[in-house]
Amino acid sequence: MKKVKQNNSGIKKSGIIQKDSQKTLTRKKSMNQKISHKQSLVSKPFKRVIVTSALPYVNNIVHLGNLVCIISADVYTRYLRLRDIPVISILGTDEHGTTSEVKAYEEGLTPAKLCDKYYAIQKDIYDWFECAFDCFGRTSSLANKEITLHIFNELLKHEYIKPQELEQFYCNTCKRFLADRFIGGHCPHCNYTEAKGDQCECCGKLLEATELLHPQCKVCSATPVLKKSTHLFIDLPRLEKPLWQWINSVKNKWSTNARTMTDAWLKDGLRPRCITRDLLWGIPVPGYEGKVFYSWFDAPIGYIGITKASRGDWKLWWQSSDTRLVQFMGKDNIPFHTILFPSFLLGTKEPWTLVNDLSVNEFLNYQGGQFSKSRHIGVFGDNAKETGISADVWRYYLMINRPQQTDSDFSWDDLQSKINSELVGNFGNLVNRTLTFVNRYFNGIIDKIKLEPQDQAFIAKVCAREHIVGDLLEQIDLKEALKEIMGISRLANQYFQEQEPWKLMNTHPVRASSVLGVLVNIIKDLSIMIEPYMPSAADKIRHQLGMGHLELSWNHLGLKDLPQGYHIGTPQILFAKLEDAYVKDLKVTYGGEREFGLNLAVAKITKILDHPNADKLYVLEIELGAKGNRQLVAGLKKHYSKKDLLGKHIIIVANLAHTTIRGIESQGMLLAAEKDGDVKVLEAPNSDPGDEVRVSNWKNNTKQITYEEFVSIMLTTKGNKVVHQDHVLHTHKEEIHIDIPDAAKIK
Ligand code: MF3
Ligand code: ZN
Repeated sequence: MKKVKQNNSGIKKSGIIQKDSQKTLTRKKSMNQKISHKQSLVSKPFKRVIVTSALPYVNNIVHLGNLVCIISADVYTRYLRLRDIPVISILGTDEHGTTSEVKAYEEGLTPAKLCDKYYAIQKDIYDWFECAFDCFGRTSSLANKEITLHIFNELLKHEYIKPQELEQFYCNTCKRFLADRFIGGHCPHCNYTEAKGDQCECCGKLLEATELLHPQCKVCSATPVLKKSTHLFIDLPRLEKPLWQWINSVKNKWSTNARTMTDAWLKDGLRPRCITRDLLWGIPVPGYEGKVFYSWFDAPIGYIGITKASRGDWKLWWQSSDTRLVQFMGKDNIPFHTILFPSFLLGTKEPWTLVNDLSVNEFLNYQGGQFSKSRHIGVFGDNAKETGISADVWRYYLMINRPQQTDSDFSWDDLQSKINSELVGNFGNLVNRTLTFVNRYFNGIIDKIKLEPQDQAFIAKVCAREHIVGDLLEQIDLKEALKEIMGISRLANQYFQEQEPWKLMNTHPVRASSVLGVLVNIIKDLSIMIEPYMPSAADKIRHQLGMGHLELSWNHLGLKDLPQGYHIGTPQILFAKLEDAYVKDLKVTYGGEREFGLNLAVAKITKILDHPNADKLYVLEIELGAKGNRQLVAGLKKHYSKKDLLGKHIIIVANLAHTTIRGIESQGMLLAAEKDGDVKVLEAPNSDPGDEVRVSNWKNNTKQITYEEFVSIMLTTKGNKVVHQDHVLHTHKEEIHIDIPDAAKIK
């Protein structure tokens, strides 16, 4: 730290611009007397604020679109902290329910182990994005179980819970009711054989489990039976009146989409809603063996449970009328937060804190389409860091593009242009050229400052815009506030341009120094306002300004902290330009355009001859639909008779260089699995000759490959399926099944 002279607040006490600079350096608890915002929070009776973001499903790796909500909550919380308002921000993982059970089953883990695994993955992601939660927890915690049971018991006591009978699929072998996702069968619409109990992934239609043809238990393959089961319902019609009263008292603080959707629900009239499920993974319902609470019951209660798990004073926050609850979420979560969760709390007749402000974002799409983890489309939390783009830049982009009124689209070109023009060209440039100038021509010290009327007018303009930023943040308009901040930076660049300090240097050095003094102060203010959005960049700027040790506070705005004689630090580049070639690579990596090295296709064996020159070989004639016929040489004689092979729909490598085997040309190669001397050809009995066989949604490579290249591409078997890097080989009709143990060689 280089300082000219220091006092106990670290800075020489002689304000350059505003008279009250000395006072503002000490952080005040009774804040905000100086900043008089029309809609200031502080004038309200609230003593503290809870900020939440919808709790993401534990096993769902969040994509940029999901991060919009989580980062919004973090930006807003950081803003409140700058304003010295007591605030806690809460996030955690939504762990119970079918999604976790299904995923656990797929990964061969217990649900508890699966949740541990993904909880850690998610925590790393949010840490990387610099989300500074006060409480980060899990809905499966003991604390949440306790509160969930407490709320349930209170609802029971006030007779808001009633039983009702339902008919559901039951597996006699597994001895359990089957959630939709645990039932498979043939799709009644397109005949796809792998349809699930809630949807057919082939034709996309939504299904009822009872509509499936040949229903099967996904765990043991037995045919399930329909059986009656008693469930518990919350009596929403009886809660409608208090709910309606409460909604009317707060809804003017909700975003329009939240108000509209809630009104629509209420207009339809509320119906009793089932709050229990026949699952193993969840909070057991007392007195109902084999049943757990529906995850949408214990998940929102999780906001409270997560607070309880990490703070002894949780009741102070959650049971008092002077706590303001601000909730961020995506638009698909609205009724759960405006109707269901408040009903659970109202029904207890206890003084729970209900939501005040609701900030609902619309969706972010990826390059005009949807994000898809399984198809490798889009940037997901766990690969954001691999992009080489910093967390700050992601946060900036998501907030400046925040889908507030309508859905918005992520595109690499847009990201590139915003980084290059706004972050690099505007903001980064302002900081860098100003600080470089001060260092180069004034030895890093702003010494002589004399303001002229034009500077005063400019300062007044900047201060007015800083107030607008504050007002917009009060209204949780995070996107417009950020635009306004960038606007102030543009204004400062203009001032730099108009004043031409590089010319004044020689003719009027005091004037040049004054202009730079104003600019350095604006940069200091920008570092405060930008902190909620880009915490690392803010920190860097403050180090470059030589004031890294000073506490950030919104009170320090108004171009007033850096006094005459202040010695700045060393300037460094803040943001890197995103180059075309790099963007091109990113588009391929995250565009679902991955390529599989092989071109695999279904072929029908139409004729089989013995190889004239080899005992172990057949010569097969195969048909590839529209792609014509071919001839293959295959060493299958020891394993299959001609009769067994003829007519089979096999899988061939169609892009292998043709070779001649003992005088006969082989135009490709069929795939077979081998394990302990047992050999089975891969088949796709329900697919047509010529159908493509794919790995995930990767494109098949159509360029010719050598045998060596073929051998280098790993294919094996797992759980009676054929896989490449854990992705199952499939046609558009079926996954490739094979009756051979795991880890067989495919050749
Ligand atoms: N897990 C849900 C989702 O991702 C959100 C739960 S919000 C909570 O859609 F309030 F229930 F926690
Ligand atoms: Zn079963």
